[in-house]
Amino acid sequence: MKEPLTFEVMERPEVGCRSLTYPRFWSFWSCGGSGWLGIMARRVDGRPAGLALLGTIHAHNGKTSRRLLSLAVDRSSRNAGIGRALLRLAETVVRRDGLEEMFALYSGHMTSRNAFESVLAACAWEAPRASEYMLKCEVKCAFGALDEWSFLLERLKRGGFRTVSWQDLSTTDHRAIAETSATGRVHSDWQPGAHTDQTSADFSLAMYHDKEIAGWIVGCRSSETQVHYPLGYTLPRFQRRGYLIAGMLESCLRQVEKLGGDSVAAHWTLPGSAMHRFMETRLVPHLRGQGDLKGRSMNATGSSTTGVRYLALKRL
Ligand SMILES: CC(C)(COP(=O)(O)OP(=O)(O)OC[C@H]1O[C@@H](n2cnc3c(N)ncnc32)[C@H](O)[C@@H]1OP(=O)(O)O)[C@@H](O)C(=O)NCCC(=O)NCCS
Repeated sequence: MKEPLTFEVMERPEVGCRSLTYPRFWSFWSCGGSGWLGIMARRVDGRPAGLALLGTIHAHNGKTSRRLLSLAVDRSSRNAGIGRALLRLAETVVRRDGLEEMFALYSGHMTSRNAFESVLAACAWEAPRASEYMLKCEVKCAFGALDEWSFLLERLKRGGFRTVSWQDLSTTDHRAIAETSATGRVHSDWQPGAHTDQTSADFSLAMYHDKEIAGWIVGCRSSETQVHYPLGYTLPRFQRRGYLIAGMLESCLRQVEKLGGDSVAAHWTLPGSAMHRFMETRLVPHLRGQGDLKGRSMNATGSSTTGVRYLALKRL
């Protein structure tokens, strides 16, 4: 390390750290976001040179852990071992608290991905693996799709397909969904309750075949202009009918009404899952204007991106 630094566990956030994490983390942390932990490298003049930000204690699969939310070193001080030193200290603190793991979840598009993964490898983290696939688009894309898939949507509606906004579900509907989820045939990851939060009622919907529940799409608002959809599920007997396409389109149209056509929908799924294949083969070609569109494309009215999020783990 070229410059003399001190490393400290921070009791509270300091304004100088603002540029050393993502704006959304800074807003939460600086507003008193409880349970987060900062590890800082401080220069002799008092200014921060680097920050490792850790999330709250997390219990999953019987293991306790903290997420490494961000690791950043001031540009002028990079490649001098500060990132590694911050991560090692973070590990020591987390281990001392008796936790068993640390993990990082990050985008494949991250600019410093190579440097970040070098730091993880130097600190003996397990090799990162693709953990989430994401398709993001402006919801006005749905208008192009409506045009393209109108024949399918009309056929489905004639055959008994309909959607009901989560807010409009009756107690009986909720009971039917809960009972269907509890049959044991619906994996816990696909049950709506595993994904809903206080913003979900506005952006989620249930899919029906006549009076029978056929599936659900859960959306959670993640910012003023973005909704993420962690779950779209069709019950096995209603699969391969196009219900998911119709349900996703419907959820985009409802989002247009609530947040406007420029707002963004982010759909998440597991890499290699049926939903991932569905997005890659059925949705992405249309969004990129490569589908059988007879000269039209959803891209004519909105933009889209795809990406993979990686999970890296350190057992302490
Ligand atoms: C990731 C980051 C924190 C690393 O901090 P740092 O202090 O430079 O880290 P270190 O000096 O300890 O180690 C950097 C390692 O990355 C390597 N590296 C740097 N740039 C690289 C690149 N483009 N490709 C591959 N390796 C790279 C360095 O060679 C070094 O490894 P080495 O010591 O084995 O040679 C820093 O680049 C950063 O702040 N980036 C912006 C914020 C960010 O994107 N953080 C990532 C997760 S939130």
